[in-house]
Amino acid sequence: MLPSAFHWRDQALHCEGVSLASIAQTYGTPVYVYSETAIAQAYAGFASVDSSIPLQVCYAVKANPSLGIIRLLAGLGAGFDIVSQGELQRVLTAGGNPARVVFSGVGKTEEELRFALEQSVGCINVESLHELQQLGDLALAMGLTAPVSVRINPDIDAQTHPYISTGLKENKFGLALPQALEAYRLAHSHPGLRITGVDCHIGSQITSLAPFLAATDRVLAFVDCLAEEGIVLSHIDLGGGLGICYHDENPPTPSALMQALTNQVRQWAGTRARPLPKLVFEFGRAIVGNAGLLVTAVTLLKPGAQASDHNFAVMDAAMNDLMRPSLYGAWHAVIPLSTRPSAGACQAAWDLVGPICESGDWLAKDRPMALAPGDLVAFASAGAYGSAMGSQYNSRPRPPEVLVRANGQVLLLRRRERFEDLILTEQIPAGL
Ligand code: LLP
Repeated sequence: MLPSAFHWRDQALHCEGVSLASIAQTYGTPVYVYSETAIAQAYAGFASVDSSIPLQVCYAVKANPSLGIIRLLAGLGAGFDIVSQGELQRVLTAGGNPARVVFSGVGKTEEELRFALEQSVGCINVESLHELQQLGDLALAMGLTAPVSVRINPDIDAQTHPYISTGLKENKFGLALPQALEAYRLAHSHPGLRITGVDCHIGSQITSLAPFLAATDRVLAFVDCLAEEGIVLSHIDLGGGLGICYHDENPPTPSALMQALTNQVRQWAGTRARPLPKLVFEFGRAIVGNAGLLVTAVTLLKPGAQASDHNFAVMDAAMNDLMRPSLYGAWHAVIPLSTRPSAGACQAAWDLVGPICESGDWLAKDRPMALAPGDLVAFASAGAYGSAMGSQYNSRPRPPEVLVRANGQVLLLRRRERFEDLILTEQIPAGL
């Protein structure tokens, strides 16, 4: 699960030639560390697929919205999938091209739609008839035409955690096919709307090809239906969702997925003598997930009184820093930064927990390893939905984030928050 940019030297874990312990020393712990090479290689796995089909690989900003990471990916040619005005503002601030932005999301506000139109985003992925009508009317009032795709809900099981499965009819996302058809008819006749494509995203952390292929089949059959009505699309957005290896999963590689999907679309277009539409994708996790680690130190050990009791290692990171274990029961590999146990280290099966006042505040359970107070460990596969889902719960300042460049230069993307940051938007009203 560790990309080759993370490697061992002198029994110590390094990122791009820089020891993680030295980064911890400079920036303190907890700290998020990302590898430029790992991000670039993962992105290239999607973008450099050899296909005759025009591609737009978007980075799903929600996975890690750090401005530095957006800038890095913009420089590599990525487009961006966004779900809020804030994410669009991040893309613009980091120099991303709004023409290569797709705006997803089930509940965009009028203010967000207006901002997206003002900024001329490439496409707005609409998820309800209400939103479609609202967008069309708004665009008309602004003297514009809104570029739209409708997100269809193909009712395909992505076989992933229920919280991140989005393509089943019981999920709130997209429109079932009959309603989607109705939406296209409306869009076709509305002078404020310009149909550009169709969109589908069935979930996240998907670890096999089958759900992607099944969803794509449904999308292509739907595109045929639209063609019968004289509605021609210039792009097909097949979403994101490719999983990564956290533990023992064996997902398809980015290039295997891209080969399979582009072949499927090419075959479909060939049998219908249709021009090849542009294919758009929205990957987040598979671009940054394994490119990042959360480095944290053992604050103290609380071994159980008896052999059958839990042994707790209380870390200086907590659920507010890495929420995935608490929220999804997610498994992240825990890697001591040195293979040499420290003096006095205690070998046991440890529950690594944070200091937050909730029993749900755990990061890993039952991990056999030798630990001593002060030891540094890395939580692997934390580049996606790690820092992004962080909070200040228990008034804990959020940790810094650093990017290690391919040349070993360490860049600070975000400094550690201070107490002043915690209270920045607050006031004590006069007289209280
Ligand atoms: N496009 C849309 C419309 C999405 O909703 C998502 C993710 C993506 C693209 C990117 O999916 P990815 O390629 O990253 O799988 N917090 C959860 C993951 C939530 C995913 C939400 N939507 C986690 O930590 O596992």
